[in-house]
Amino acid sequence: MATTVMAVPMETTSAEARAFLERSRETLQQLAVLIRNSYLHDLSNQVFEEPLEKLVQSISQLVLTEGSFRLERSGEEFFANGNRIRMEFRSLHAYKYVLNELGKRGVGGISFESRATVPAVTAFLEVFCRAGEGENEEGSLLDRLNGELVEREVKGIKLLPSRDEVSVPESELSSDRRERALNAYQQALDFIRESMVTVDSPVQLNVRKAKRTVQKLVDLSYEEGSGFSLAGMASIKAHDDYTFNHMVNVCVLAIAFGQRLGLKRHSLAQLGLCALYHDMGKLHIPLDVLNKHTGLTEEEWAVMGNHTVYAARTLFPLIVVDRTTVNRILTSLQHHLRYDGTGYPKLKIRKKQSLYARITAIVDTFDAMTTKRIYQRQHLPDEAIAVMHQGASTRYDPLLVKAFINCMGIFPIGSTVILRTGELAVVVDSNPDPDHLHQPQIRIVTDPGRRRVPPFLADLSQLGE
Ligand SMILES: [Fe+2]
Ligand SMILES: [Fe+2]
Repeated sequence: MATTVMAVPMETTSAEARAFLERSRETLQQLAVLIRNSYLHDLSNQVFEEPLEKLVQSISQLVLTEGSFRLERSGEEFFANGNRIRMEFRSLHAYKYVLNELGKRGVGGISFESRATVPAVTAFLEVFCRAGEGENEEGSLLDRLNGELVEREVKGIKLLPSRDEVSVPESELSSDRRERALNAYQQALDFIRESMVTVDSPVQLNVRKAKRTVQKLVDLSYEEGSGFSLAGMASIKAHDDYTFNHMVNVCVLAIAFGQRLGLKRHSLAQLGLCALYHDMGKLHIPLDVLNKHTGLTEEEWAVMGNHTVYAARTLFPLIVVDRTTVNRILTSLQHHLRYDGTGYPKLKIRKKQSLYARITAIVDTFDAMTTKRIYQRQHLPDEAIAVMHQGASTRYDPLLVKAFINCMGIFPIGSTVILRTGELAVVVDSNPDPDHLHQPQIRIVTDPGRRRVPPFLADLSQLGE
């Protein structure tokens, strides 16, 4: 790997550095919104007054404190004045969008050398967005765009050429599991969103891509430790996109749980695929039933219950090309069947739930309960665990419930806890030792006075009392 390293000119205290990166991230998000809208609307439209003003303020503030502001892309990452802007889930979409917009024009970044103004930023966005894809030949597009900016008297804003990739030491790359996990999570979400549009045609279900997607998550499940846990990824909740988000969360939880159960890599990949597809039949359910605010009528429940059968029917033809499809079919069909067989769908041939369906049923309930829905408050993870405990032997396989509680801990991953000291912390991993289930690994985020501190890891079993 090349070893070009970007300079890190910012000599600031860590609080200032964090504030700078936070503002840079905000600026990136504001840019994404405005670039996207510039394709569709005239920026002189009144609705853009406020977002434009906000972007101008952010840039001006950054220029004021730093002297200038350079937003540069390198590989799949952004750097603000040479400092890496870490991806966060809430800004991941904007991050990728702006990366792509710059990349397809062969532009390496944007430099703001003086305080911004609304007319200058508007003109910049117009010039940038009017330049179509594929125009970038031999770097001439960049020169032309910068020329246009000069012509339009846009002062202090310049597009930067692409530069060599910034090299990140291998050790840093491998330690940054969280970021890779976020990427893998986002890829799974993108995949499921894309492929479910063509759900009517099983031929178009890109199983190979699904397998690659799931494999990345399986690989990550073997890298747990150091404050990262795959199960913690399932605490990502996108309330506007429940079905897709839920399918990925169930997949992530199933892999994490399956790994703790001791399943082999091959089986974990199978389980992950089963879980990823478990609710695909919901794409056939009318939206007014799927998103109903109030309780469902008996007929609507019947319609909803059919999602298990629809999924099985869609997947069935794929058995010819891949015999393991049978696992996916059984999981989709049986995940609401219940351990005692009293659930749905009512099958003529009574068959017990398969292992993958029993695992999926547990993680499915956990994710569904811990997500806020139109008709349901978000339950705390320990409330969901309690419900599962009650349903052991009837709804759920009792042995698996026990194992799941061991896997998630008494304070499930993702829970926010208050320590006796008054500090606030987030549970990042359970304690594998059954005698210390009550002492998970945590990330402390505030001091005893509840003031934010740079998050740090602690193992409660090591802290004694
Ligand atoms: Fe379901
Ligand atoms: Fe589900």
